[in-house]
Amino acid sequence: MIRSAFLHRLINHTPLRKLLKDNQYVSRAYFNYVYLTSDPYQISKELSKEPGTNKYDQAFALLNGYHANNALEIGCGEGLLTHYLAEISDQVTAFDISDLAIQRAQKANDNATNIRYLQGDVRAIEFATGEFDLVFCSELLSYFPKEQLSDIVERIIAWVAPQSYLLLVHHRCQNDDDMGLALKEFGARTIHNTFIECSGFVTEGDELSPWYRLTLLHNTAQTR
Ligand SMILES: C[S@@+](CC[C@H](N)C(=O)[O-])C[C@H]1O[C@@H](n2cnc3c(N)ncnc32)[C@H](O)[C@@H]1O
Repeated sequence: MIRSAFLHRLINHTPLRKLLKDNQYVSRAYFNYVYLTSDPYQISKELSKEPGTNKYDQAFALLNGYHANNALEIGCGEGLLTHYLAEISDQVTAFDISDLAIQRAQKANDNATNIRYLQGDVRAIEFATGEFDLVFCSELLSYFPKEQLSDIVERIIAWVAPQSYLLLVHHRCQNDDDMGLALKEFGARTIHNTFIECSGFVTEGDELSPWYRLTLLHNTAQTR
């Protein structure tokens, strides 16, 4: 308890955090630093809400019973959300930049036979074009400098197979929206709209709460 409180204080209030965060080239070090404590983003708290009321239940409800062959989770952290994909997919690949988070994800989900975890950076990891028929990206893309956003969006879009789905969850941010916190330069409005503008991607669900936005996009390209 005391150790955990001390680590939280260390992580949130030291110049080291600023140094690691400001330098986009050491973001692996920054996120490993954040994961010195478990569940740093308090996902368990969100998951402990009444069934159907937490933002992830609401996001996955948009899929309306869709079953995937091969799903991808981007920025999976400690794997606390991977079960959503594992339950509706034959195979799941989940990756995160933090090795520490990936180690915990592997441990937490070692009974699941259909999940593979990888350490990787969304800006560099390699997947085949159209490899996945469901891609889930939650609370990740507001971490990058705005000038990197369109390249990252292009990479993600390329992984989504024709006639398949991309599910997005991000916080709203007062810097580009009329609601949310002003913790980042931009939030769900900028991020989700960048995907919505991609040719061939049609919005099948778009829900706003005062704090977050849930968007389901369908890649309408025809299979060759
Ligand atoms: C705010 S957490 C979100 C965790 C979870 N997806 C959720 O919705 O709560 C952001 C996650 O993205 C990961 N991450 C940050 N930069 C990344 C990158 N360049 N490539 C892959 N993952 C990254 C972090 O390690 C962290 O686990």
